[in-house]
Amino acid sequence: MTPLLILSGASRGIGRAIAERALERGFAVGGLARSADELATLVALNPERVEVAVADVRDQAAVATGAAAAIARFGAPSLVVAAAGTLGPIDRPWLLPAGELDDTLAVTVTGAANLAAATVPAMLAAGRGTFVAVSASSATRVFPGWAAYGAAKAGLDAYVRYLAEEAGDALTAFSFVPGLTDTAMQAGLREVDVERFPQVEQFRRWHERGVGKAPAVVAGALELALALPREDLHGNVVEADALLKAQAQAARRAEA
Ligand SMILES: NC(=O)c1ccc[n+]([C@@H]2O[C@H](COP(=O)([O-])OP(=O)(O)OC[C@H]3O[C@@H](n4cnc5c(N)ncnc54)[C@H](OP(=O)(O)O)[C@@H]3O)[C@@H](O)[C@H]2O)c1
Repeated sequence: MTPLLILSGASRGIGRAIAERALERGFAVGGLARSADELATLVALNPERVEVAVADVRDQAAVATGAAAAIARFGAPSLVVAAAGTLGPIDRPWLLPAGELDDTLAVTVTGAANLAAATVPAMLAAGRGTFVAVSASSATRVFPGWAAYGAAKAGLDAYVRYLAEEAGDALTAFSFVPGLTDTAMQAGLREVDVERFPQVEQFRRWHERGVGKAPAVVAGALELALALPREDLHGNVVEADALLKAQAQAARRAEA
């Protein structure tokens, strides 16, 4: 039977790269996002194996309907990735507009919880499955200006720890940190003024030097993560950069 990946954030960036890698590996893909045009280009890659739904991850009913359509077509997912994310307002912690902060927390935490609600029961019924939440190092490390993003990702990591603890042996659940990746999210960040984002010049210089990874590299790092033993993943925060570094070191050792 064709394995199924269901993911949010399927329209572009890291989520889109994960979806495309999964298609290359023979998965069916159930992709959720708000951008219908970009989802249509995902379908066009492989109409036989792609089901998409226009859904805002904050909308529990829309996420449930979208995931159910993919499950009806391809069976229980073996892999679910909550990749949708937003930086939210960039400013000092005491200046964050409450409505924008609410939105950031809702996209990040409620969005992942909505995706879990729509998929985890099917994985538990099938007796197997993996749930990955795309997190960020700002959950534990301060980047001045990113309080909303950091708080949201820390909340997401906590949610994943609870999911891992409570779902039982059938599910593997972990947070996955991509590290600096060249996407629309990073492009938006480079436009923020220095008063609100003191490190903006550094991020602009990194971009000029090509430091950010391509989203496809992050998709490859997630594959490396998924090949690890369950005890290295379950309930943990797994970093793409550490996996890629270890892979490069192993390649160098093999050449020597
Ligand atoms: N880029 C980095 O350096 C970096 C580093 C660490 C972590 N991350 C994380 O990686 C994930 C992907 O980010 P990215 O860099 O690929 O950013 P991106 O290119 O801006 O993509 C964000 C994705 O999230 C979706 N999304 C945003 N709000 C949504 C909502 N309310 N409902 C449904 N979908 C929504 C977008 O789809 P629509 O707009 O079509 O809805 C899009 O597919 C995020 O969780 C981000 O926090 C990124």
